[in-house]
Amino acid sequence: MSIEDLKKQAAEKAVEQAQSGMVLGLGTGSSAKYATMKIGELWQAGELTDIVGIPTSESTVMLAIKYGIPLATLDTYPFVDLAIDGADEIDPDLNLIKGLGGALLREKMIEAAAKKFIVVADGSKVVEKLGTRAPLPVEVVQFCWKSTARWLESLGCTPVLRGDEAQPFVTDNGNYILHCTFPHGIDHPTELAATLKNRPGVVEHGLFLGMAAEAIVATADGITVMSR
Ligand code: A5P
Repeated sequence: MSIEDLKKQAAEKAVEQAQSGMVLGLGTGSSAKYATMKIGELWQAGELTDIVGIPTSESTVMLAIKYGIPLATLDTYPFVDLAIDGADEIDPDLNLIKGLGGALLREKMIEAAAKKFIVVADGSKVVEKLGTRAPLPVEVVQFCWKSTARWLESLGCTPVLRGDEAQPFVTDNGNYILHCTFPHGIDHPTELAATLKNRPGVVEHGLFLGMAAEAIVATADGITVMSR
């Protein structure tokens, strides 16, 4: 079974919890796209009615439009019934690193507003300790980003600008992203999250702590549901 099959299986399992009348958070990335596609198919087939999608990125807007899913934003619907999204790492307490798809700020806003947030992934995303498989993406303002990068370095990581200096990746919100590698993983995620949040120039970071209610993880041996 290919990794794509596993992502699809996990995503489609999560969509089983979507119901007519719900406001649905639509995630971003190669796993979450399968959830949006399934929601789109169910919508087109009339099996899901009266739904509203709240997309977490401009790329998800484009995908949802292809299926004709009715879309809105948190400005109109401040609460989301169910959000489904991928992750770059999932620890045993369902704390996550997210954002390698570059959409972490909108993802965090929408998933923080969700009554239930389900993570979908293939088994390679499950880790014992955050920061051991993936770098931590940190969204920063463009202004003096090198100064912010130097400050991040002082926290014990190696920050690398996403894209390159000639052509940096620019987020949907007009910011840059620094991928921060911690040589031995992240020892104290809660403290690190607070430190990052307090720093002027840092817009948001990819630590999603205590947010996911459930992780649906697909491996060649089957689907595992982890819940808090
Ligand atoms: C998007 O910004 C991310 O948070 C993704 O949800 C995350 O990177 C997982 O993406 P994949 O499902 O493509 O691995």
